[in-house]
Amino acid sequence: MSQALIAVFGGTGFLGGHVVKELVEAGHAVRIAARNPRLPAWAETTDPLERVTVDIRCEEDVAKALEGADGVVNAVSLYVEHKQLRFEDIHVQGAARLARLAQQAGIRSLIQLSGIGADPASRSRYVSARGRGEAAVIDAYSKAIILRPSVMFGPHDAFLNRLAELTRLPLVPLFGRGETRLQPVHVIDVARSISRLLGSVPFERRLFELGGPDILAYREVLEQVMAYLERERPLLPVPFALWHAIALLASPLPGPPLTRDQVIMMAEDNVVAPGVGGFDDLDILPRSLRDSLPACLGPAG
Ligand SMILES: NC(=O)c1ccc[n+]([C@@H]2O[C@H](COP(=O)([O-])OP(=O)(O)OC[C@H]3O[C@@H](n4cnc5c(N)ncnc54)[C@H](OP(=O)(O)O)[C@@H]3O)[C@@H](O)[C@H]2O)c1
Repeated sequence: MSQALIAVFGGTGFLGGHVVKELVEAGHAVRIAARNPRLPAWAETTDPLERVTVDIRCEEDVAKALEGADGVVNAVSLYVEHKQLRFEDIHVQGAARLARLAQQAGIRSLIQLSGIGADPASRSRYVSARGRGEAAVIDAYSKAIILRPSVMFGPHDAFLNRLAELTRLPLVPLFGRGETRLQPVHVIDVARSISRLLGSVPFERRLFELGGPDILAYREVLEQVMAYLERERPLLPVPFALWHAIALLASPLPGPPLTRDQVIMMAEDNVVAPGVGGFDDLDILPRSLRDSLPACLGPAG
C-alpha cells in the first residue's frame, strides 16, 4: 500500500511542528501548509516532506493544499485579533472552508484542533469563535474529529516560559486568587494522539478532550515552576476586574501582552469533561508537568 499523505495546516506552529514529526515517524508523507511554510530543522533530505504556501482565508490556496491528500489536520491558530484579522476569519470561516473543501475532495479524515471549553455562547470572542468553528466543521464534514487540548506545554512553549519570566518579578501576580483549575498537557502527547487518530485503527468517538495527568490550580503551576527554578516569591492575588482594566489599557498596543479574552479564559476552569474521548481511548499515558520542567525550562537556577 502506498504511503498516506497528510496535509498539516499550521504545520510550522508549536503543535503543528510536533504533529509533522510524529506523522513522519509513523510512516506518513506530510505536506506542511502555512503562510510561510518551512521544513523543520530535524528534516533529512530523504524525509517524505513537502511544503505549500497557503492562507486558510483563500479558497484557491486551500483547494491546492488539499490536492491528493488522504488526511488533513487543521492546527492553524490566531490568539490575538487585529482590525484586518478576526477570530471569525480563522477559527470559523477558515475552518469551515477547509472542512468543506476536504469533503468535496473526498479526503478520508479530518482532525480539527479546538480547545477545552469551546462554546458559541461564551463571553470570550476567542472561545465563542472556537465553538462556532467546531459546529461549522461538523456541518461541512460530519465525520470530522474535534480535538480539544487543555493548555499545552513543551520545549520552547509560550505557557511555562511566560510563567518563568513572571517569577523574575519581586511579587508574582495571580489571576484572582490563582484558583482556576488547569490540566496542562504535553504538546508531544497531543501530537501523538493526532498520529494515532490518523492511523489504521478506526475510532468511533468524534470528540476528544486531552489533559495531562494532573489537575492543577494556576497557583500550583506557578509554585511548581518556582520550586524548579529555585525562586521564592510571594504570590499576589489580583482581582479579575483589575486584570480587565489592564487588558483594556493594553488593547491599542500592536502586540498586547494581555487581552480581554485571555482574562475571561483565566477565570474559567480548563479541565477534561467526563464522557468524551481521551488519552485512555488512544492508549497514551500522558506525561506530567513536573517531570517535564527540565526539558521545557532548561537548567534550573
Ligand atoms: N498552544 C496551546 O496551549 C493550545 C491549547 C489549546 C488549543 N490549542 C489549539 O491548537 C492549535 C495549534 O495551536 P498552536 O499554539 O500550535 O499555534 P501556533 O504556534 O500559533 O501556530 C499557528 C500555525 O498556523 C499557521 N497560520 C496562522 N495563520 C494562518 C493562516 N491565515 N493561514 C494558514 N496558516 C496560518 C502559522 O504559520 P504561518 O504564520 O506561517 O501562517 C503556524 O504554522 C490551534 O487550533 C489552537 O487554538 C492550542
